Amino acid sequence: MSAPLDCVIRNARLATASDTVDCDIGIRAGRIAMLGDSLPQGSREIDAAGRTVTPGGIDAHCHLDQPMEPPVRMADNFDTGTRSAACGGTTTVIPFAAQAKGASLKAAVADYHQRADGKAHVDYAFHLIVSDPTEAVLTAELPALIREGYTSFKLYMTYDDLKLDDGQILDVLAVARREGAMAMIHAENADCIAWLTKKLEAAGQTAPRFHSHSRPMLVEREATHRAISLAELIDVPILIVHVSGREAVEQIRWARGRGLKIFAETCPQYLFLTAADLGIDDSYLGAKCVCSPPPRDASNQQVIWDGLADGLFTVLSSDHAPFNYDDPAGKKPGGREVPFAYIPNGIPGIETRLPLLYSEGVLGGRITINRFVELTSTQPAKAYGLHPRKGTIAVGSDADLVIWDHREVLLSNAMLHHAVDYTPYEGMSLRAWPGLTMLRGQIVWDGKQFTSPAGGGQFLRCGMPSILPSGVGH
Ligand code: URP
Ligand code: ZN
Ligand code: ZN
Repeated sequence: MSAPLDCVIRNARLATASDTVDCDIGIRAGRIAMLGDSLPQGSREIDAAGRTVTPGGIDAHCHLDQPMEPPVRMADNFDTGTRSAACGGTTTVIPFAAQAKGASLKAAVADYHQRADGKAHVDYAFHLIVSDPTEAVLTAELPALIREGYTSFKLYMTYDDLKLDDGQILDVLAVARREGAMAMIHAENADCIAWLTKKLEAAGQTAPRFHSHSRPMLVEREATHRAISLAELIDVPILIVHVSGREAVEQIRWARGRGLKIFAETCPQYLFLTAADLGIDDSYLGAKCVCSPPPRDASNQQVIWDGLADGLFTVLSSDHAPFNYDDPAGKKPGGREVPFAYIPNGIPGIETRLPLLYSEGVLGGRITINRFVELTSTQPAKAYGLHPRKGTIAVGSDADLVIWDHREVLLSNAMLHHAVDYTPYEGMSLRAWPGLTMLRGQIVWDGKQFTSPAGGGQFLRCGMPSILPSGVGH
């Protein structure tokens, strides 16, 4: 006879990427042990009473305690960032171990483990950021790290301290092809941005809102096309991160139509913010929404919604990049209102990612609940080699679950659990919020309180990607 169940969630409306079924969920030793009707009594019983239960979210693009050039410092470390994740229904995060130019990649990974060890409240894996692809990195460090479970890395086409030229990108993509790793690409044309920034500065146009003028859509479109071409030359899949609007989407549809394995990610800021949020006058408050690529306009938001609905996008991540607004280490470096080119890029959103998409996407009738699960959990798990342990509700999978409350929520920064002093979504009215988050069978958010035992998150070694671009969305 098998051991008793630790917990049974009864009367769940369980949603996976493929199905919605009404059943009980039996949990033993942190895993899903049984799915069915009238399961035996568990040591703990939770009545979900017809509420929707989804797999815990996987936030496959977030930045936590990533080393920055002083005085800038991220507001969230692994403690506060993963606390916030848990309260927003996310049970796995994949932030970035970033190589500094001139330093080793292995050293970045060792340092990042120290930052996470004992502090994370949800499970975590690491992407790498390759900023200096030396011979040693290409032939030894990167292949070894991939084999040790760091199977994805991000390459930047912009930012002086991170960007690679096309030849360097080809070198790293060749390693991805040989080793079966997933390359993520930040696609913006660095030279166009630098040229436009110089012109804007010369004209005295340095308020936060001019950030979006320095990075128009064509800058992203050109780099997206180039990234696709470099991937085609090497014959390797890539995933284009934080896609912001129509022209980049058109490039990805074109590539998919040619049969290329181009995956794509978008983020809530491209659904819920526009360039107007960076300011319609020269107010410095627009710094709160300075991120790259910048949010576009309402018609581009619709293009992103269409791509979520029709299968173009593979994943929806937060790109949580937590900088305080009123802080010399944040959006006011050194305590001053600086020209846009010196404002730390990125906005917070690790806790709001799932509620925003569930409320406005699922309950707003724009995507199905199954597509919601696919975008926020199942496909991130497959793209980064964590499936089927993560990303689904199936016998044998980790019991990472969210029970959803359908209720009106007035979003305010005061209710969030990150360490950032603002949310760009202040005052938005939502129709749902996670009523319970469970990590490997333990309740970490009960709908009112963060309830995690300190540092309960485990490090995950990733396997190889197991995903194909969807047949739709061309
Ligand atoms: O502005 C952004 N997206 N900041 C975070 C870093 C990145 O490029 O993803
Ligand atoms: Zn990026
Ligand atoms: Zn990012």
